[in-house]
Amino acid sequence: MNKLITLLFLILSLGCSNQQTGEEDRIIKHLESQLDYAVKNAELLATSELISPRTSENGKLKLVKTRDWTSGFFSGNLWMMYELTGDEKWKETALKFTLPLEQEKWNGNTHDMGFKMYCSFGQAIKYTDNPEYREILIQSAKTLSTRFNPVVGCIRSWDHNSDKWDYPVIIDNMMNLELLLWAAKETGNENFKEIAIKHAETTIKNHFRDNYSSYHVIDYNPQTGEVQHKNTHQGYADESAWSRGQAWGLYGFTMLYRETGNDEFLGQAERIADFILSQPGIKQGEIPYWDFDAPGIPEEPLDASAGAIIASALFELSTFSDKQREYVSVARNLLATLSTDKFLAPVGENEGFLLKHSTGHKPHDSEIDEPLVYADYYFLEAIIRNRALKTKDE
Ligand code: GLY
Repeated sequence: MNKLITLLFLILSLGCSNQQTGEEDRIIKHLESQLDYAVKNAELLATSELISPRTSENGKLKLVKTRDWTSGFFSGNLWMMYELTGDEKWKETALKFTLPLEQEKWNGNTHDMGFKMYCSFGQAIKYTDNPEYREILIQSAKTLSTRFNPVVGCIRSWDHNSDKWDYPVIIDNMMNLELLLWAAKETGNENFKEIAIKHAETTIKNHFRDNYSSYHVIDYNPQTGEVQHKNTHQGYADESAWSRGQAWGLYGFTMLYRETGNDEFLGQAERIADFILSQPGIKQGEIPYWDFDAPGIPEEPLDASAGAIIASALFELSTFSDKQREYVSVARNLLATLSTDKFLAPVGENEGFLLKHSTGHKPHDSEIDEPLVYADYYFLEAIIRNRALKTKDE
């Protein structure tokens, strides 16, 4: 009798996992068709300057120049579609959207180098062995390093708003450190790694509140390293928890632990996760509002990009943490919500973007409840990470 029950259980769970795989395959096919449409749309509108889709504005596709912080994500999406399908067509298309970004390796006016170059060329070197791409990334890391001030212990994020801030560092900047950690491994130059670690340590010291939610902008005195202001730029208020900022922190410290093995970074990632998971609905897979403290909840716009970044980060954090089961379950719940009709755009709509309902910059009244190319990027990455976990479990 016991044997019969075990057999039945095995048959049922096999059926269940087959069903899940079938559903995953269906979604990947859907995403592939939509990305096909996105490429056609982008090629139609692209100019020598405007090269990469960012969002939709007044119902029209908005393309950006290479210097825009989002310029690397579309090519990253195409590389990830290559990973998901193995179809050489995606590799060729990805290269077409990656190569125009090369000139950014010299752009020292922004901290966004990691977003631009690591999400594009950083993906390209996974699937090609072209030594030129390696050199492009190393030069990008060198250029980014010039923005590090050892007195502050951080890379400077922005040069704008100089009337307001002397040396602004934003939580998003954690994401640019992956490029430096990669370059340290590739070249053996420890300086890249030291900068990344110092930046992360200073961020732990100054960016977080007692409940491990994070400020968006910390303004330092560049001569003394003292903290001068704790502000927001894209969140609701200086003291609120801007959702995507919390997501960047979670993802950034998880990645820092992966690359350094330093327990301090793992602990920080887990404490950020505790904060995020304590927010209403997140454990059940509800997509965050644009700011966890936005005053008009539940009438506030959502931010699918924050949901996708959190899902991707939790999948990775689960591989290092004792709370593996909880993190995987929340990440899968978020992924399931993003895969519903509410968020997943029908093929041929949404200007070719995969997801609907993201919010870029609410206080500036821009990109509210619109698609955003980086929501798609972390959504695809979360799908890939989930698939890798499932393969390991089997
Ligand atoms: N790094 C800018 C943003 O998250 O909107």
